[in-house]
Amino acid sequence: MTGPAQHDEEGEAHRVDAGGEGANGPRAHGAAKIAGGEVISEHQARVRRSYDVVTDAYTERVHDELRHKPLDRALLTAFAEQVRGEFGPHASVCDAGCGPGHVAAFLTGLGLAVTGIDLSPAMVDRARALHPELIFEVGTMTALEAADGRWQGLIAFYSIIHLTSDAEIRAALREFHRTVVDRGVLLVAVHLGELGDATVHADEMLGVGVDMDFRFFDAEWLVGEVRAAGFEVEARLVRAPYPDVEVQTTRVYLMARRVRGKERVGGMET
Ligand SMILES: C[S@@+](CC[C@H](N)C(=O)[O-])C[C@H]1O[C@@H](n2cnc3c(N)ncnc32)[C@H](O)[C@@H]1O
Repeated sequence: MTGPAQHDEEGEAHRVDAGGEGANGPRAHGAAKIAGGEVISEHQARVRRSYDVVTDAYTERVHDELRHKPLDRALLTAFAEQVRGEFGPHASVCDAGCGPGHVAAFLTGLGLAVTGIDLSPAMVDRARALHPELIFEVGTMTALEAADGRWQGLIAFYSIIHLTSDAEIRAALREFHRTVVDRGVLLVAVHLGELGDATVHADEMLGVGVDMDFRFFDAEWLVGEVRAAGFEVEARLVRAPYPDVEVQTTRVYLMARRVRGKERVGGMET
């Protein structure tokens, strides 16, 4: 990763192909047609192209990683237990920014009905191939296709890290609030910005050339945004990185619950 990048730009709008076109498809590497009418910014288009090309290396790196991450397994298990406790077995949850689907598969093993959504068609293809029993769709978490109240829970594991403008973070949190039912559970994981909020540019990931930005979060700021979006933050965990398993950054996890009528509208609570 190199140098600081723009932090507040929304970027030029592009359309995302939600039709599940594969990594080798004709439009996989260009911002192009849309099947669902979703619009993504220029930098989301770069994120999408980057994950399309790094899918093999990323999958190799993470498909088995939960075996080596006891705190992540514990949090996902707590998430599943809380969702099932509130809504019963087979409750529906969304894995937003699901990558190759290993977290979705873990949650499925805990009795949840999981739909994974990812910006990268290649990631979605890979997730479908690895976990044919699960549902995976191409889409952006800043404009979800799901109906209001569709999910009883939603996780975003290291995926809002690519939403580098505050406006995009707020758009995603608004979508989480819209698509999660009242008292539904939200679990978010991000990298901590040791010196506060920061964005870095990456031109290489796991030995593959990419062109995308990563955000490191000020935890207090994110807690404030999650609350402002209409969730009560019930738990937060900060953990050191596991050696030899993952990128050596401090991790932040927020567990929150949707509350009715608390979303921010133009700076005011309703
Ligand atoms: C660091 S990976 C994390 C994948 C997986 N959740 C995990 O824990 O390994 C980030 C994923 O988020 C996806 N992503 C990035 N921006 C997104 C967006 N706006 N909407 C949906 N997915 C997005 C990427 O395509 C990528 O698969």
